[in-house]
Amino acid sequence: MPNTRANQPVSNSPPARAIVAMVGLILLGPFLHLQSIHVAHHWRLAPAGVTGETAMVVSAHFLASEIGRDVLRDGGNAFDAAVAVNFALSVVYQQAGNIGGGGFMVCRLANGERGALDFRERAPLKASRDMYLDDAGEVIKGLSLKGHYAVGVPGSVAGMAALHARFGSQPWDALVRPSIHLAQNGFDLTPKAARMFNRYQQDFRDVNRFSPAVIKPEGDWAAGERIRFPDLARTLDRIAMQGRAGFYQGETAKLIAEEMMAGGGLVSLQDLAAYKAVWRQPIEFSYRGHRVISMPPPSSGGVALAQLLQGAETYDIGAMGHNSAAHIHLMTELERRVYADRATHMGDTDFVDVDIAGLTDKAYIAARNGDISMRVKTPSEQVKPGLVRVIESVETTHFSIVDPQGNAVSITTTLNGNFGAKLVVQGGGFFLNNEMDDFSIKPGHANQFGLVGDDKNAIAPGKRMLSSMTPTIVEKDGELKIVLGTPGGATIITSVFQTLMNLIDFDMSAQQAVHARKSHSQWQPDFVMLEKGTMSLSNLRGLLAREHNLYPWPQFKYALGRVEAIVVRDNGTLEGAADASRGEDDRAVGY
Ligand code: DON
Repeated sequence: MPNTRANQPVSNSPPARAIVAMVGLILLGPFLHLQSIHVAHHWRLAPAGVTGETAMVVSAHFLASEIGRDVLRDGGNAFDAAVAVNFALSVVYQQAGNIGGGGFMVCRLANGERGALDFRERAPLKASRDMYLDDAGEVIKGLSLKGHYAVGVPGSVAGMAALHARFGSQPWDALVRPSIHLAQNGFDLTPKAARMFNRYQQDFRDVNRFSPAVIKPEGDWAAGERIRFPDLARTLDRIAMQGRAGFYQGETAKLIAEEMMAGGGLVSLQDLAAYKAVWRQPIEFSYRGHRVISMPPPSSGGVALAQLLQGAETYDIGAMGHNSAAHIHLMTELERRVYADRATHMGDTDFVDVDIAGLTDKAYIAARNGDISMRVKTPSEQVKPGLVRVIESVETTHFSIVDPQGNAVSITTTLNGNFGAKLVVQGGGFFLNNEMDDFSIKPGHANQFGLVGDDKNAIAPGKRMLSSMTPTIVEKDGELKIVLGTPGGATIITSVFQTLMNLIDFDMSAQQAVHARKSHSQWQPDFVMLEKGTMSLSNLRGLLAREHNLYPWPQFKYALGRVEAIVVRDNGTLEGAADASRGEDDRAVGY
């Protein structure tokens, strides 16, 4: 039954109203730039996405999307295209596309079968619980983020090999070949790629023992300049010829192990040989007549999304108005409870118990949300205490694919931070991840996304670090409806949450849902983060009246979410929506 609490006025006693109004006026000043009637509703003006009659690829780089489209046109299926896109991103989108990182895949086959593949990095066998603490038990700054010691055992190549072995239809080497060509012959830097490479030049110099191809000896990289990666081309060639053994054994494994030993990293030949991608049972639940299929642990994404959407379902979200004070207030209240659960209850299910059924149970969620007031926020300390600092600039990447047969693939993959540990394997030519920072390196210590954790996500040899990545697929009436996901660290879950509400509750097109301005909160810190243009002035006032702390999202640094989505329209055509408003090079390519 729709809950009408949302429509109740914010009624305080007269003196309280006066105080709120005064505090509001003082506090609103710095946030005025956040509002603009035009921008607040700019999603209404956003164009529809790209139309495809039967097939669609949406990724963070147009060259990768085009390679995926070509695989589909040549008769490959969505899984073949996913392998080709993943390797292409490891060349043309090196801040997040990778072979030295890891990720997750959720798929739905044309026949309705679904699957979830975990190719998340693992802690090296020599890792230990307190490896990032000094003798006094304090966190050694930066150790889990930059350089050799931050690296987890990569999973991406094993993931692609497992995906191809189960569902691929084209020869493996043919799917890697276009990426070898790109790395060998080079490609022209886009303005964004040039900017990204330039921004991290000093980090690359600090961390690497040699001069990898991304280091510009003099001056800056320029847009339009051609860049080549011959070492990476040779590594990809070994992968093309030998499959997963071309990465986890032989020459590439030797280069990784040597790199680690030279710089004090822990990943060994034994770690590499032992790495396995794992098929897991997807998280499934219903939301307003839709069936949502998402990623289980070691990602927190699917469980958190289930908690958020099932919590939201008891309210009439559509009646609140998109990004109204009531809408953002409710999301924030749901989010602070969900992220508190994430910090306490979630980790790698191969190592710790996670009560997935309990956490996603409707009665549990209803009880947990029972104290939500639509008039005033619940301070985060009352939900559960914690300490954090503010999020830094980071990268991951998501791509969505639907093929002409109706198979759908949703993959989110990452090195964690931009260019991961900033470390390139000498002779191998590829970046290594800094995923170890996603563990709770000390109970209550905030990681780079401000996320806190405890025992369940403590480091142990061979364990996978908890993730927020949320590759997701949605069915309606037993048919494929939506494929989506996004980068954004802690904000991944809330961006997927909002995009699904935009589509289902606010009836937006895929492009509108992706481009719509977003907000984020995560229990700790006790802020609501708002993208520029998220709200009108009166809605900002409504949030302040509910006592929220507002935090303008530092958009000059990076965007809040960057969803790449495909929606099956009612007439059966596909709408592909890349988030070019936040990502520049992102592209939906369909036919
Ligand atoms: O697995 C996670 O949740 C993070 N390592 C994802 C990193 C990320 O999304 C960075 N992106 N912008």
